[in-house]
Amino acid sequence: MKTQVAIVGAGPSGLILGQLLARAGIDAVILEAQTPEYVLGRIRAGVLEQVAVDLLDEAGVGARMHAEGLPHAGFELLIEGRRHRIDLAGLTGGKRVIVYGQTELTKDLMQARAAAGLKTVYEAKEVSIHDFDGTRPRVRYVKDGQGHEMACDFIAGCDGFHGVCRASVPKHAITHYEKIYPFGWLGLLADTPPVSEELIYAKTARGFSLCSMRSHTRSRYYVQVPLTEKVEDWSDDRFWEELRRRLDPQANARLVTGPSLEKSIAPLRSFVAEPMRFGRLFLAGDAAHIVPPTGAKGLNLAATDVRTLARGLIEHYRGSDAGIDHYSDLCLRRIWKAERFSWWMTQLLHTFPDTNPFEQKALDAELDYVVHSLAGRTTMAENYVGLPFED
Ligand code: APR
Ligand code: PHB
Repeated sequence: MKTQVAIVGAGPSGLILGQLLARAGIDAVILEAQTPEYVLGRIRAGVLEQVAVDLLDEAGVGARMHAEGLPHAGFELLIEGRRHRIDLAGLTGGKRVIVYGQTELTKDLMQARAAAGLKTVYEAKEVSIHDFDGTRPRVRYVKDGQGHEMACDFIAGCDGFHGVCRASVPKHAITHYEKIYPFGWLGLLADTPPVSEELIYAKTARGFSLCSMRSHTRSRYYVQVPLTEKVEDWSDDRFWEELRRRLDPQANARLVTGPSLEKSIAPLRSFVAEPMRFGRLFLAGDAAHIVPPTGAKGLNLAATDVRTLARGLIEHYRGSDAGIDHYSDLCLRRIWKAERFSWWMTQLLHTFPDTNPFEQKALDAELDYVVHSLAGRTTMAENYVGLPFED
């Protein structure tokens, strides 16, 4: 078997890349370890920056996102019981974000791939990558108990944080930067109308909470919990009770509770691997970096990585390697800005068990400064909607 680009992983990174390459006439096969149902069952975030929206249009999968996604022109910060609106559109010359669940986006991408007859091997087991430091890389995998080998020009490692691609790079060739936070987010999805039209990010003495949504009838809520918490110990009632304690009377008056469709705890992590290219292997999305969800950047970074990668590969097949040669540097500049923003938002809004009292006072003062200063709010808004893309 042979293809031009072997893509490992059918999450948003792999699927968007596959779509962009197909539209440019480049042949790609996606190898995914899980079943399509499993991939769709993972509940992830869903705030899209304009750059990501434009890219999905370019990939030909934007129709349902425009029809069903919810444009948001601002969000609220609820700090110790007081609300402060971050007017995204007003502070950034009219920019907005679209709230559209990653699950729905993944569904759209899978359908487009199937409709175009493009090849995805689901339940590809024991995927291993070989010879990416030479000119003839190969990918091996097992499907239905049978071994296969695929020759390719390039390998795109879109296989997430626990994937095989980053792990296959020799240790001396890669540097990891990491910060693990001493808490996680307990999330609950419910078919209840959202508590507010806009997202509410709340900082309270009991910890952070977030009111988000998937549609006008489906809400997504989170509360910060210690890493020692187990999801089994959180009944729906206990979750709603804790959320209530972290909201203001205005929100509590509108909060509609109901049975959970999904409930899970996600640890928070900041992580970057450098570089993102190793000969003919490119890492993209969560395979190369992780952000805590506070800044809503994970999916957007995945989209901008594969935008850059697709352009580089298309250029390569037209005769120039400039794009792929700059892939890593170009991506990392954007990634570090989003890493900084996500880390900063996380620091400002969460309760850290071990912060020294001076630092806590300084952080409280910083948040007070940010919400009361036009410059401060503008900084928050322009990072949230996404920084301009550098080509
Ligand atoms: N072989 C084949 N596939 C694999 C392997 C492997 N060894 N390891 C992992 N995968 C698959 C996973 O099953 C998953 O479907 O790779 C895919 C990676 O998808 P994601 O984890 O969603 O990563 P990515 O596509 O980069 O999307 C990033 O996901 O976690 C969120 O916030 C993040 O929204 C962002 C987005
Ligand atoms: C979500 O809706 O899941 C969500 C929204 C915004 C975030 C994080 C998660 O910052």
